[in-house]
Amino acid sequence: MNIGVLTGGGDCPGLNAVIRAIVRKAQTIGGHRVLGFYDSWDGVLEKRYEELDISKVRGILPKGGTILGTRRGSPFDYADGVERTKKVFAELALDVLVVIGGNGSLTVASMLADDHGLPVIGVPKTIDNDVVGTDATFGFQTAVQVATDAIDRLHTTAESHNRVMVIEVMGRDAGWIALHAGVAGGATTILVPEVPFDIREVAEIVTRRHERGRYASLVVVAEGAKPKAGTLEIPPPKLDKFGREMHGSISQLIAPELSRLTGYESRVVQLGHVQRGGTPNAYDRVLSSRFGLAVVDAIYERAFGQMVVLKCGQIERVSMQVTRGKTRTIDLELFSGVSQTFFG
Ligand code: F6P
Repeated sequence: MNIGVLTGGGDCPGLNAVIRAIVRKAQTIGGHRVLGFYDSWDGVLEKRYEELDISKVRGILPKGGTILGTRRGSPFDYADGVERTKKVFAELALDVLVVIGGNGSLTVASMLADDHGLPVIGVPKTIDNDVVGTDATFGFQTAVQVATDAIDRLHTTAESHNRVMVIEVMGRDAGWIALHAGVAGGATTILVPEVPFDIREVAEIVTRRHERGRYASLVVVAEGAKPKAGTLEIPPPKLDKFGREMHGSISQLIAPELSRLTGYESRVVQLGHVQRGGTPNAYDRVLSSRFGLAVVDAIYERAFGQMVVLKCGQIERVSMQVTRGKTRTIDLELFSGVSQTFFG
């Protein structure tokens, strides 16, 4: 068999571990060829790829990023993109293409498989943990640990200066990293895209806390957090070339407003891509490896249009259609339990 592999969308720790597992299993057990396409769909459309053998994947298990490179964008960005993709499948005699991606890439993979008849199978990834159909994506636990370590460090400097730290983490449509790192780091309050916030309530929480003699407040905010209508003026979002809202300014708006309302000095820390870079933790290496092994089984069973997922600790398969245009948001029950018990 000729098995194509690509990594799509934003990178995350664990991508290389999936590639390694696919190559190891496909070659050692099946003797199949694995073609790794460079730079996501660009590599498919431009027929840029390399044959991956075991020597090429040696040592990549703990390496962050992706040895194949990744991009946003898809064949659907071009009028003839699907036809060109079909041509490449035929020219390379591809039996299957494994798409390792987040919501965007899996939606594209689903459309190619189910609407255009191409043999495509998915593997969900993203630090954002927001893919519908799976209990978890790899990359998330590593990102949460990075953010938690940062919060721990910020505690001591905030305490020394009696300051409010506003820590912005990734999560444009779902607040998984903010919620989990916020709980793990003992945040004063957590702001997530799913629950619009009122800046005056945040200020009250901070003020109450400092009046009780606490010397530091740590407000963890997801980049996509939104104020309740009429509570905090935010400029209309700019869009990037893919039509996505550009983030990175919410903490810059929150911090000065909190200082104004509470009288305490504030500082902003935007963790940004440090959350996405570097080596995957042990959990993410294991999940990535399990997904890589399972996708080879899915190939044997011609489970086109499906993706491997984690469900109650077991690896299963579901149709990639469940991801189309969807986002898996946080557990609101957990959020409300956390907010009632720990905020302040
Ligand atoms: O990988 C998803 C994500 O981490 C989002 O949370 C974030 O908004 C986005 O990537 C930023 O990615 P980039 O800078 O690559 O566009």
